[in-house]
Amino acid sequence: MSGSLNASSLARLLGAWNVGAAPAYRELADVVRLLVLDGRVALDVALPSERSLAATLGVSRTTVTAAYSLLREQGFLSSGQGSRGRTCIPHHGTRTAGGTRNGGDSASGHGAGTDALSTLSGPPGLAVPDGLLDLAYASLPASGEVVHRAFATALTELPALLPGFGYDALGVGPLRAAIAARYSSEGAPTTADQILVTSGAQHALNIVLRTLAGRADKVLVEHPTYPNALDAIRAAGCRPAPVAMPPDSGWDLDALEAALLQLRPAMAYVVPDFHNPTGRLMSDPQRRRLVRAAAAAGTVLVVDETLRELNLDAASAGRMAAFSSAVVSIGSLSKSHWAGLRTGWIRASEPLIQRFAAARTTMDLGGPVVEQLAAAHLVTALSEPLPARLEALRGNRDALLGLITEHLPTWQTERPDGGLSVWCRLPVPMSTALAVVAPDFGVRLAAGPRFGVGGAFERYVRVPFTLPPEQLETAVLALRGAQDRLERSPQLRRTLPAPPAAAIA
Ligand SMILES: Cc1ncc(COP(=O)(O)O)c(C=O)c1O
Repeated sequence: MSGSLNASSLARLLGAWNVGAAPAYRELADVVRLLVLDGRVALDVALPSERSLAATLGVSRTTVTAAYSLLREQGFLSSGQGSRGRTCIPHHGTRTAGGTRNGGDSASGHGAGTDALSTLSGPPGLAVPDGLLDLAYASLPASGEVVHRAFATALTELPALLPGFGYDALGVGPLRAAIAARYSSEGAPTTADQILVTSGAQHALNIVLRTLAGRADKVLVEHPTYPNALDAIRAAGCRPAPVAMPPDSGWDLDALEAALLQLRPAMAYVVPDFHNPTGRLMSDPQRRRLVRAAAAAGTVLVVDETLRELNLDAASAGRMAAFSSAVVSIGSLSKSHWAGLRTGWIRASEPLIQRFAAARTTMDLGGPVVEQLAAAHLVTALSEPLPARLEALRGNRDALLGLITEHLPTWQTERPDGGLSVWCRLPVPMSTALAVVAPDFGVRLAAGPRFGVGGAFERYVRVPFTLPPEQLETAVLALRGAQDRLERSPQLRRTLPAPPAAAIA
């Protein structure tokens, strides 16, 4: 809804904005930007004229002019008519250090209001100048040569399929067989008829939600959890029911069992294999308890195995599907090979797979054939690119943990068993503010609240270790700079809402 804000209302919202830690115009712009992202100043609202705001705040008009120019440059203020620009958030699809970004494992927010708050941590929402280090994505470049080779082979196989229609809601045979063989070799006997190929794990989750969960149904989630899964659950009209993960390690099975029993949710979505964002691996005894509790509650357990291959310490844990045939498993090649393949899958009972295939046709009529042929080779030859990838990731992880200890000693970290990120506890609740100022220091960051519901995790931030150690050092030093800036400007932190008193169980 459009409207306008007069100078005294804005001055009230700004509070004691000018603490002298940075040039006045920059502090003014920063606090206005936080108010917009925070939803305390709505979108499409005309800000006061430069003259009236300058008079009300007792600053020079040049200060307000410069602050407004900066906000325009950053995409938070439209040019508007006359001098009264309207609040907005930056457009999607802007360039990033790594290229054009518009999805994937970012803490990307969408839209306005509460989601605008999270947009500050997500790539699609922010205009990102070249050279920014991107810590908002926990994703890797392709294992290039292997992927290229798989496509070259796929092209030679394509002619045999050209006489067909090319539509296949279940996926091409060789890929389904290759995926099934992998589950079978890991203790979960699986036939190709139990596999549906999707355009990535996110697509898979949407198909599962559409099939198994009705509007207003509860979906149990770990808290924190993968932000795009939360978005999918909400977009399906369902209500995420968060169960807190313990602060230090593992899962709280007592809490999960109690929540399943009390809430009897239609679905539970869990990431037991190198959980995003904590990187934890669920133990076999916990897996056993979880599948039993879900069965007792009549809840479909949906297990996201997207990060399963990123096992940094060679820890062992069985496939969840090996513990119960009722489990619905979601997988992907995005982390083991490349997100650009857009290839994932669902593994479930044959009747459920048929229902998923029927549900998918409202979204798409099947996946692209060449990609699937190539993916079949990648699934079969999975072990080929992984050792080098894991070795590099181990080095990155250890470097990041060391750098944080050295340069950000007030941060608490947990050594992840695998995956791509470290979940850090901050000394004070400042995650959103940190993500807002971090680009000024050269990094982009996913703020903690994107990983939770109800504004939780303002005291946490996810830091991926996908960059090489030299760049991680630059990034950590930048985070130190951003933190120092916030320490000098408490108002930047105070403009944010207080986090909820306790985790939501
Ligand atoms: C837990 C989890 N699920 C799903 C996805 C999305 O995977 P895909 O690229 O296959 O859609 C990610 C990406 O980071 C993830 O971390």
